Amino acid sequence: MPPYFVNIIAGILLGIRLQATVIRASDIKDPYFVAGVVEFRPDFIGLTTEQLVAKHTDAYTEILSSAEALDTDIVVFPESTLNNEFKPTYVPAAEDAIIPCLLANQSSRYENFLIALSCAARTNRKYVVINLTEKEDCASNAAFDPRPCATNGLNTYNTNVVFDREGRVISRYRKVNIYLERKNTTYQPEFAIFDTDFGVRFAHFICFDLLFYTPAEELVVKYGIKNIIFTAMFYSETPFLTAVQLQQSWAWGNNVTLLAAGGSYPRSGATGSGIYAGSDGSLASIMVGNTGVRQIHVARVPKFDQESSQKSVPVKPFTEDTTQPQTGISLLRDPQLDNFESELLDLNSSSAISLELCTEELCCTLSAETTTSERSYGNGTATSVYYYRFGVFTGLRSYQKEQYSAVAICAIYACTNDTVSSCGLLHPANIKITPTYAFKRLNISGSYKKAERLLLMPNTLDLSLYPLEPAQVAWHRVDNGKSFEAAIELKATADNLLAFGIYGNYYDSSVALRYGGSLAVLLSTLVLWLGLYVIDFLHLRMNM
Ligand SMILES: *[C@@H]1O[C@H](CO)[C@@H](O)[C@H](O)[C@H]1NC(C)=O
Ligand SMILES: *[C@@H]1O[C@H](CO)[C@@H](O)[C@H](O)[C@H]1NC(C)=O
Ligand SMILES: *[C@@H]1O[C@H](CO)[C@@H](O)[C@H](O)[C@H]1NC(C)=O
Ligand SMILES: *[C@@H]1O[C@H](CO)[C@@H](O)[C@H](O)[C@H]1NC(C)=O
Ligand SMILES: *[C@@H]1O[C@H](CO)[C@@H](O)[C@H](O)[C@H]1NC(C)=O
Ligand SMILES: *[C@@H]1O[C@H](CO)[C@@H](O)[C@H](O)[C@H]1NC(C)=O
Ligand SMILES: *[C@@H]1O[C@H](CO)[C@@H](O)[C@H](O)[C@H]1NC(C)=O
Ligand SMILES: *[C@@H]1O[C@H](CO)[C@@H](O)[C@H](O)[C@H]1NC(C)=O
Repeated sequence: MPPYFVNIIAGILLGIRLQATVIRASDIKDPYFVAGVVEFRPDFIGLTTEQLVAKHTDAYTEILSSAEALDTDIVVFPESTLNNEFKPTYVPAAEDAIIPCLLANQSSRYENFLIALSCAARTNRKYVVINLTEKEDCASNAAFDPRPCATNGLNTYNTNVVFDREGRVISRYRKVNIYLERKNTTYQPEFAIFDTDFGVRFAHFICFDLLFYTPAEELVVKYGIKNIIFTAMFYSETPFLTAVQLQQSWAWGNNVTLLAAGGSYPRSGATGSGIYAGSDGSLASIMVGNTGVRQIHVARVPKFDQESSQKSVPVKPFTEDTTQPQTGISLLRDPQLDNFESELLDLNSSSAISLELCTEELCCTLSAETTTSERSYGNGTATSVYYYRFGVFTGLRSYQKEQYSAVAICAIYACTNDTVSSCGLLHPANIKITPTYAFKRLNISGSYKKAERLLLMPNTLDLSLYPLEPAQVAWHRVDNGKSFEAAIELKATADNLLAFGIYGNYYDSSVALRYGGSLAVLLSTLVLWLGLYVIDFLHLRMNM
């Protein structure tokens, strides 16, 4: 009998609050709650689907009952690290208020792993968010969805499920933006929102959604949600869209709390989890290399949305050991970099630099001052430096066949030599980086035309593949009527930047469509993402 059956039985018995005295829970009056995000390495090698799902379920359960997780009110697991399309499960709707754990012996409708995790939520008295492959009988949905059903009579969704402290399914979100997956989408996008007993209202979505307006940005802008949960298996792209960098800048740009759990599979590019407190920066974050990890990262999160919320809990600045360049992560490169209007920064001869660059749609200015630096990063024997370009780009970028965003970027970014084609690349791990110059002052600003759909984000990245924290960066966005004046400024000297600037996402708004996108860029982006996905997909398929 797989070990998780023991947990099912324990869940049924212990759900009667035997453990309630041991497990702490934040109160509705507390100024904070305790969240955990799990960076989780899935198993691949030599397992049947059955074994794979059992191993993942046991590992999830172990994390939920670990000492590190003891204080957490809510724990978020990443995407694609539980079951797969060969073992989908039905998932009850929130309205049904079903506790799968209590149906262990009466129902064969729900797969054992769903029951086991419902029990684990119940035993440990936590809210738990998981991502799984869900099946649904088309017939039950036919009234709402006129599209033809698959021949097996099922819809298959990529779904987030939320359990409350009783193990009850209280929310279910079916992913809208499918990234080259053989999954169904919902006929209408779902806005998955749930409330907790500690007084915080959350919305949740999955991975790729973060780059789109619906539902991610809409939940913030139209529904006013200040606490967002995000489960991901995200492939990082330099220099602007590595995982933690994007998570933090999205949370900062929107000034919302973000709990992000990432699948850990760095050799194919997937890593990156964190807990972010909007304009206060990250409370925890992690990018790992090589084989990946199974780790819970816990933080006390100040409640943003309480009426008196002058942040009763000071946010403790988060410090990451940023002395080592990060290695062992396979990274995509933004192919648009070749199409930026850009200029190489001459750090050697000038201590003060002032530049302006424009596209048809956007003008950006840079003003900087440099100073000498004697630090080094990494411990290779050969040494090298990064070159920097200041660049501006407005145009469409694609992520897959029919999905694109109009983006508008002003930034400096690192290059390994003075050519444009070396931008966004990293020096190999065996090279020690010995920057001879540092930015003492750096100020980048741009005037962004307003649009109904626009998110402006401060975007930074250093050699360790973490973004800079608010202690190191100031971010301004001033409403000027027809435009936003955005500016990002360095607050402390930095010689280890990979990117620093403003990332504007106009999504798919009609205003944005006027941005001239080039088909070549679209195609090359598509090929790149597709290529990586295929490699990864083959790898997964071979081993599952
Ligand atoms: C959500 O999890 C399931 C099971 O691991 C997986 O098949 C699905 O692809 C996940 N979502 C995404 C977008 O990967
Ligand atoms: C469920 O079935 C198992 C094995 O048949 C039994 O040991 C257990 O007590 C049952 N649990 C409940 C809640 O009925
Ligand atoms: C779900 O996906 C299957 C397989 O791609 C497809 O045949 C079916 O039409 C889809 N169902 C809906 C409702 O879109
Ligand atoms: C972000 O939101 C918090 C809480 O509502 C508020 O105190 C803070 O001033 C906001 N930050 C910015 C930059 O608007
Ligand atoms: C700066 O000077 C170094 C050493 O003289 C040289 O290798 C490098 O190419 C120069 N960088 C730029 C941007 O001119
Ligand atoms: C630095 O050197 C140590 C000892 O040789 C090695 O274990 C470590 O991985 C190196 N770090 C990097 C970033 O190369
Ligand atoms: C600059 O870097 C690119 C990318 O690594 C490389 O292809 C090119 O040969 C380099 N050029 C010079 C002049 O070193
Ligand atoms: C940064 O640049 C903007 C636009 O040029 C300017 O308004 C702002 O005062 C600058 N900030 C600093 C600290 O120089």
